[in-house]
Amino acid sequence: WYIIPALTILGYLSGTWLGAITVCRLARLPDPRLTGSSNPGFSNVLRLHGARLALATLLIDMAKGWPVLLLGLAAGLEPWGLGIIGLGVLLGHCYPLWYRFRGGKAVASAFGVLLLLTPGVALICALVWVLLAWRIHTAAVASLTSACLAPLVSLWLAPDFVWEVVGFALLVLVRHALNIRRLSDGSEHQL
Ligand code: G3P
Repeated sequence: WYIIPALTILGYLSGTWLGAITVCRLARLPDPRLTGSSNPGFSNVLRLHGARLALATLLIDMAKGWPVLLLGLAAGLEPWGLGIIGLGVLLGHCYPLWYRFRGGKAVASAFGVLLLLTPGVALICALVWVLLAWRIHTAAVASLTSACLAPLVSLWLAPDFVWEVVGFALLVLVRHALNIRRLSDGSEHQL
């Protein structure tokens, strides 16, 4: 019984590693929480410092939960157990203990968790994200659209994971509250 709580705590701790902060520190650049949208995430690093550092941020944020999730898979956990561990990773990213619970918006970390658990859902949502971000230059619209789409794609491709995906999508929506406000008054940052 202790496997799921233990892996969820480990998942939370791994989620608190924010790729954007590490990458900017290593590149001796300003903290991404102080410029652009102030979000420590892939989109803000792309906006501020370009594709190379954004890609490094994305890789850290998407892969940081994999070791813990792989342990869950090796232990033969059911989808609901894996979903709780994945949610732990996302909560670590959004509410990191070390940064006074002020983290990112869970898009890259949700993509990483889904890539391992339901690759089809992750890849379709990523494709939609890239197309929208490329056409309209607004990361938040791409993220919100992908989050709304994910449960529907999961219903089609991975019905066992649909409730987990709904939980991830709700968290992403909640974390975009400020973006939604900025979108409605026309002040949202462009990529
Ligand atoms: O991936 C996060 C994105 O949806 C919004 O980021 O920096 O535009 O607030 P940002």
